Amino acid sequence: MKYVQLGRTGTRVSNICFGTMSFGSYSDASTAGSMYAHCRDLGVNFFDCANSYAGGGKAEAILGDLMGEDRDNVVITSKVCRPMSADTNGSGLSRRHIIQEVENSLRRLKTDRIDVYFAHHYDPVTPPEETLRAFDDLQRQGKIIYAGVSNWAAWRIAQAIGISQREALACFDVVQPMYNLVKRQAEFELFPLAEAMGLAVMVFSPLASGLLTRANANTIGQRSGRLAEARYLKRYEDQRNFEIAADFCAIADEVGVDPAMLAVAWAVSHPAVTVPIIGAETVEQIANYVEAVGFDIGPDLRARISALSPIPAYEIERTID
Ligand SMILES: NC(=O)c1ccc[n+]([C@@H]2O[C@H](COP(=O)([O-])OP(=O)(O)OC[C@H]3O[C@@H](n4cnc5c(N)ncnc54)[C@H](OP(=O)(O)O)[C@@H]3O)[C@@H](O)[C@H]2O)c1
Repeated sequence: MKYVQLGRTGTRVSNICFGTMSFGSYSDASTAGSMYAHCRDLGVNFFDCANSYAGGGKAEAILGDLMGEDRDNVVITSKVCRPMSADTNGSGLSRRHIIQEVENSLRRLKTDRIDVYFAHHYDPVTPPEETLRAFDDLQRQGKIIYAGVSNWAAWRIAQAIGISQREALACFDVVQPMYNLVKRQAEFELFPLAEAMGLAVMVFSPLASGLLTRANANTIGQRSGRLAEARYLKRYEDQRNFEIAADFCAIADEVGVDPAMLAVAWAVSHPAVTVPIIGAETVEQIANYVEAVGFDIGPDLRARISALSPIPAYEIERTID
């Protein structure tokens, strides 16, 4: 296993991060245990979690049980923002909700600190100053080590970094965007921002939740696994995405590699990406990811695969022509 610097921080993480969204949902506690043990045997030390995964903090509780005395050897994340109750204050990035939820997460994870704590989504109601001040207090108390942000537009992250610098508050060190061959919005502004500011980039859904695997790409109209669920189908339902996936699988066949492996190799080949978050549901699926981060696709194959899907044109800044 190779280890990389987590952006501009002094912490080192394995070059794959294991996503625990499946703990307690798509994978029962016993399968979760086998996957955790397998990851640790491979040298994976980086585990992504969130208070909302599997509902009611179930994924955090499973991860907490699995870490046990291994806690000091792993780098863990959690996230706050998604609804945790029907209460009017039961979601979002208010100081009140963040302070309440970090305590709940620490209790479920059975630890006294979270290594990277994410604002999971953008909260249109809470001013960013309030969120950053809450993160700052938690950082000073040692309850969170680094602050991260997921699913925010690049300009909002840039604005928040400006506020942190001006007010001497906790600053986002890590970003977590969706990134795969059919969802390339991060290339437009987020990756350039991360490269300019030295932010670590953890990309999620490199397989487009299963779309970029043979199981789905070659069976247009007949999705299997997670992609058969309304929530995921809605995200990828455009017929063009399935055509791109089929063309992508044809390239994988030509090259003689598994599409799941090639999809991850393509995502990590972007220079801004620090680690992919792997979304396995079985021990067997983990092997592809390990192979993928060691597979150098090179500029020609990257360009050929990239040409399959459109990337938003960068039209905001223009040089003199
Ligand atoms: N920040 C956020 O808002 C956010 C959002 C989503 C996820 N995440 C994080 O990112 C992690 C990964 O997300 P994701 O699950 O969407 O990732 P993904 O890698 O795009 O999709 C994983 C799915 O692809 C299928 N799969 C995995 N390995 C495969 C293989 N080798 N061959 C064939 N199919 C394979 C499995 O589904 P089937 O077997 O059912 O086909 C699996 O559940 C999550 O656990 C979570 O930690 C974060």
